[in-house]
Amino acid sequence: MRTSNLPINQDRLWDDLMVLAEITEKDKPYTRRSFTPTFLQGRDWLKARFEAAGLDTRIDAGGNLIGRRAGAKRGAGAIVVGSHSDTVPSGGRFDGAAGVLAGLEVARALQEAGHDLDHDLEIIDCLAEEVSAFGISCVGSRAIAGILTEEMLAYEGPGGERLAQAIARMGGDPQRLSEAKRSDITAFLELHIEQGPVLEAEHIDVGIVETIAGITRLEVTITGRADHAGTTPFNLRRDALVAAARAILAIQAIAREMAETGEGYFVATTGEIHAEPNAANVVPGRVRLILDARAERHPTMQRFVSRIKGEIPAVVAASGAELSSIATLSDAAPAHGDSGLCAALIDAAEKLGLTHRRMTSGAGHDAAHFSRIAPVAMVFTPCRDGRSHCPEEWAEPGEIAAGAATILRAVLAIDRHEATP
Ligand code: HGY
Ligand code: MN
Ligand code: MN
Repeated sequence: MRTSNLPINQDRLWDDLMVLAEITEKDKPYTRRSFTPTFLQGRDWLKARFEAAGLDTRIDAGGNLIGRRAGAKRGAGAIVVGSHSDTVPSGGRFDGAAGVLAGLEVARALQEAGHDLDHDLEIIDCLAEEVSAFGISCVGSRAIAGILTEEMLAYEGPGGERLAQAIARMGGDPQRLSEAKRSDITAFLELHIEQGPVLEAEHIDVGIVETIAGITRLEVTITGRADHAGTTPFNLRRDALVAAARAILAIQAIAREMAETGEGYFVATTGEIHAEPNAANVVPGRVRLILDARAERHPTMQRFVSRIKGEIPAVVAASGAELSSIATLSDAAPAHGDSGLCAALIDAAEKLGLTHRRMTSGAGHDAAHFSRIAPVAMVFTPCRDGRSHCPEEWAEPGEIAAGAATILRAVLAIDRHEATP
C-alpha cells in the first residue's frame, strides 16, 4: 500500500492512537469503560488534543465531546467525523479510537493546509457506544438522533445509579436532552476498523459500508429457587442456572437456523449472564441473560424474537424454573450508507490509489443512529485476523492513515458540493 502520498500525518495519528491506548484500566488492557474515571481521563486527553488542533470544544446535553471549527459560510451545515473512545472490557486499541483520532487528524490536516471549509467541521467522540453498565449502547449518538428515551434514561447501573445521572456525571444534561438532537448535519463520516476478516483476506485497503446490521438486545430473566447446595436433592431443585444453560443452547440453535435460511446476515449471542446469589454452595435462584442479535433485514430479527418468546419458556419450564420476563432493552433497525457519500468515499479511495469494496457491517456503530437524522457513510480499514473486542486487536499505521486520507478527501468533496448526499 502506498502511504507516502497521503495528505495525512501518519506518524502523528499513530502516536495519538498509542497514547490513548495507554489510558486504560492497568490490570486489564485495553479497558476504558464508559462512565468510569478511566474514560474521563481519556476524554480529558482528547479535549486537550482537540483544542491544540484549534477546535472549540463542548460537551453536549447527551454527553458527547464535540470539537468544532466554524465554516466560512454561516448556515452551510456541519460535516461531522466521529466515533467513540469507550471500549468493551479488555477490548482493543482501535475500535472507536481510530475513528475519533482520524477525525482529529483530518481537522489538523485542513488547519495545516490553511484550508477553510464552507461547512462547519465537527469531530465527535460519542458517549458510550459500547453496551454500557446500563444495558444500552450508543447513548450519545442516540441523544443526537433524538431517540434516547425517558425509559432508557431510567435504566439502572452499578449502585442503582440511573443513566440520566451518569450522563450528568459526564458533563451532559439529561434535562435538556432535546438540545442534543441535531438537524444541521450535512454528512456524518466514520472510520472504523472492520472487526472482521474480509479486507485482510482479500488484501483490500478500505471498505465502504453500505449496510449496518440492525441490533436488538433482550434481557431474559429466569427464576428458580435458591436452596442449600449440600442438602437439596436433585428432584426438589429449581436451578435457574441449569435452566439458563439449556435456554442458551436453545437460543443458539434457533439463531443458527435463522442464519442458514439465506435471509441475509444474522447472528445472535448470549454474552452476558448474571446469576444470583452467585455462590458456590447455593442452588442459583435467579439468572439474567443479555441476548444480542444482529440482522441485515428487520423481518428476520422480528421472526427471531417471536421464536425466542414462543419457544424458550418451555425449555426453561422443563428444567423446573420459570422464564419470568423477556424485556427488549434496545431495538435498532438496519441502517444504510448514503449512496452519494459512499460514492464520494469510493472516488476518494480511487484518487488515492487505494483498493476498495462495498461491505455490510455486522458490528453496530454510531453511524447507524446518525443515519436517522443525516446522510452517513463509513470507511472500514483492515484488522489483523479480523480480531476485535480483545487485546489482540491490531491495525497497521498505513491502514489507518489510508482510511483517514479517504475521509479527508471526501470531506473536501462534500464541502465543494462535488459529492451530493
Ligand atoms: O457491538 C458492536 O457491534 C460494536 O462494536 N459496539
Ligand atoms: Mn466495539
Ligand atoms: Mn466501535
